[in-house]
Amino acid sequence: MAEKKIKTIGVLTSGGDAPGMNAAIRAVVRRGLSSGLNVKGIYKGYNGLLNEEIVDMTAKDVSDTIERGGTFLYTARCAEFRTEEGQQRGAEVCRKHGIDGLVVIGGDGSFAGAQKLANLGINTIGVPGTIDLDIACTEYTIGFDTAVNTAMEAIDKVRDTSTSHERCSIIEVMGRAAGYLAMWCGIANGAEDILIPEKYNYDEEKLISNIIDSRKKGKKHHIIINAEGIGHSEAMAKRIEAATGIETRATILGHMQRGGSPTCRDRVFASMMGAMAVDLLLEGKTCRVVGYQNGKFVDYDINEALAMQKNVDPYMWEVCNSLSHNYSKNDTV
Ligand code: ADP
Ligand code: F6P
Repeated sequence: MAEKKIKTIGVLTSGGDAPGMNAAIRAVVRRGLSSGLNVKGIYKGYNGLLNEEIVDMTAKDVSDTIERGGTFLYTARCAEFRTEEGQQRGAEVCRKHGIDGLVVIGGDGSFAGAQKLANLGINTIGVPGTIDLDIACTEYTIGFDTAVNTAMEAIDKVRDTSTSHERCSIIEVMGRAAGYLAMWCGIANGAEDILIPEKYNYDEEKLISNIIDSRKKGKKHHIIINAEGIGHSEAMAKRIEAATGIETRATILGHMQRGGSPTCRDRVFASMMGAMAVDLLLEGKTCRVVGYQNGKFVDYDINEALAMQKNVDPYMWEVCNSLSHNYSKNDTV
């Protein structure tokens, strides 16, 4: 049976903002318009859908957006959309506004919402947008590249002070329950210790002995990258200072990691993924999520995508540790 032809699509951003989301929206709008579709922008994620904050988009509306951080459609977390009534209403609003295809740019939570809408008959496609890189079906998520570069530059700066004062510095990076930002910064910043929730065994004695060892060897600073998923950096700093006698400070990088102009990689990948989402809708597909695997842009069923597990690459983790402090190959910290 021939698929019903799509005429109007909508686009929204949901969950935490991520640099490159504007590039993805721009691609959805321009690819949609150039394919003869009407495109509607939905403000403030699922909240804006339920409140019908919906506007027609023109090609000009997305001029001068590709270089901007954040999301000009705004984003939100919407508790109501987790309920069946909320989802039913979301589908009704889509029908009322003639939206027969919806592109949802966000993380796993946002995809769960898109899956519910797909079950209610709205064609939906997810585009991975999160600085956390924690979406299992894709090796790339919009915003990670910018965020990890922002964090890396900030950590370089903290390191200058750490060296000048001969301190130990614990620098906490975001990532929710995932340690990708921490692991990448750990490698890129040449950190002495890298703590990620997927691997850390909470052996603080080992951490303390690493710090004492490296001080004995003449190291002027000791940089610990701590993932948000482990957290408690301030308390850790106090314990380390008390145990080592070495002045220790905690720096929590926070939301500065989510902001700023997207890198070239984020702009290009976001543009490709946004365009591909529209192409999938034009092909009559629904309940899919766009991903990047083995050098190719691909798509998966959202149900399958949400069931996938993402694991830290053991080789990358092993290399990461062998380049930090003075680990032996078998250390597991
Ligand atoms: P992310 O999309 O970055 O993972 P969240 O987990 O905060 O961010 O999810 C964003 C929004 O997606 C939530 O505020 C909610 O509106 C919607 N959402 C999350 N989980 C579900 C779910 N299981 N069913 C329906 N909607 C959901
Ligand atoms: O998912 C992106 C992210 O920045 C996570 O790294 C972090 O745990 C969370 O969002 C913070 O959310 P909020 O901005 O609501 O505090």
